Amino acid sequence: MNNTFLHILKQTVFSASDLEQLLCSQDEQMQHLLNHAAIVRDRSLGKQVFLRGLIELSNYCKKNCYYCGIRKDNKNSLRYTLEDEEVLRAAEFAYKNNYASLAIQAGELATPQFTSRIARLIEKIHQLTNHSLGITLSLGEQSRQTYQQWRNAGAHRYLLRIETSNPDLYKSIHPDDDLHDYDTRLECLQRLRDTGFQVGTGIMIGLPQQSIHDLVNDLLFLKEQDIDMCGMGPYIEHRETPLYPLRDSLLPKMERLHLTLKMIACLRLLLPDINIAATTALQTILSEGRELALQAGANVLMPNITPSLHRNHYALYEGKPQIAPSHEIEDLMQGKTHYGGLKIAFGEQGNSLHYRRRTNHKD
Ligand code: 5AD
Ligand code: SF4
Repeated sequence: MNNTFLHILKQTVFSASDLEQLLCSQDEQMQHLLNHAAIVRDRSLGKQVFLRGLIELSNYCKKNCYYCGIRKDNKNSLRYTLEDEEVLRAAEFAYKNNYASLAIQAGELATPQFTSRIARLIEKIHQLTNHSLGITLSLGEQSRQTYQQWRNAGAHRYLLRIETSNPDLYKSIHPDDDLHDYDTRLECLQRLRDTGFQVGTGIMIGLPQQSIHDLVNDLLFLKEQDIDMCGMGPYIEHRETPLYPLRDSLLPKMERLHLTLKMIACLRLLLPDINIAATTALQTILSEGRELALQAGANVLMPNITPSLHRNHYALYEGKPQIAPSHEIEDLMQGKTHYGGLKIAFGEQGNSLHYRRRTNHKD
């Protein structure tokens, strides 16, 4: 293997051109990058994978992102909102099965009813589970007050993807209006940080018109933002969205998968102590996609624990896997033996080490 490549891998500081070379690696070189990132993860965080039981609370959304299957104008999306009781039962499932953390995701709404319902649910979940669960929210752009209210109610972490750090590309995948403004998204990431959340963001890989240069800049953006957590995955076209007609211009799906794995690996090299999720969109391309992400430096899995009645309707993209929770956890257990000796850290909340370090928390 080429010496320059090995030299780049061993660095701790990476230039744009280093990252470009890493992202362009193929075959043996690519495998080397992925393996190396897994070693960096092991050194910094240990050989363990944290779980977050994912609850898809509602697919109502006020936004119209051009890529997303649950966008407001998709009249073919059957809308649902879980009952409180269903959310609490899912939380109890996570608690009893020692997942130790929950992630609550929904389309974006900002009505006072929605805001206070979330706060109430967070409090009820804590009461029901002995205040032992870590709670991640992924509920979009909100006011400073709302973020504060949810943080005060007991949520610990928040995921808000930037989707792409290129403002022009951002414009091309969103309607051009105040609801879909790049600067607002950035401002929200700052609000989350000010509110004291562990802050996560991420991007989609393989978007129409996205270049390697964009992805390099995304990596530098994530580093510069000094994030605590990241969730990123391949873009998967959905037939009921405005971007669907561009499907022939996309990279083949396996290339999107490989590029995602390389992005995860590069991010691990840039930020060794953050939490990186092995996202479900990878599994849409290849059934063992998430396990490959774990072998490339990711350290978080989010098994879907949404009551199965509603599972089919949270379709951000097509082909989203619909696996029952009990099967999924069995798959995970098998992953433990098959994938590089990684162990699932049952019973551990798995808060971001990076967050702990930047805020100087002792626990
Ligand atoms: N393909 C992949 N990811 C998608 N998301 C939305 N639509 C798609 C799609 N078609 C991701 C976005 C969003 C998250 C909730 O889901 O990154 O932030
Ligand atoms: Fe709504 Fe999020 Fe989909 Fe955009 S990506 S339409 S905000 S659910």
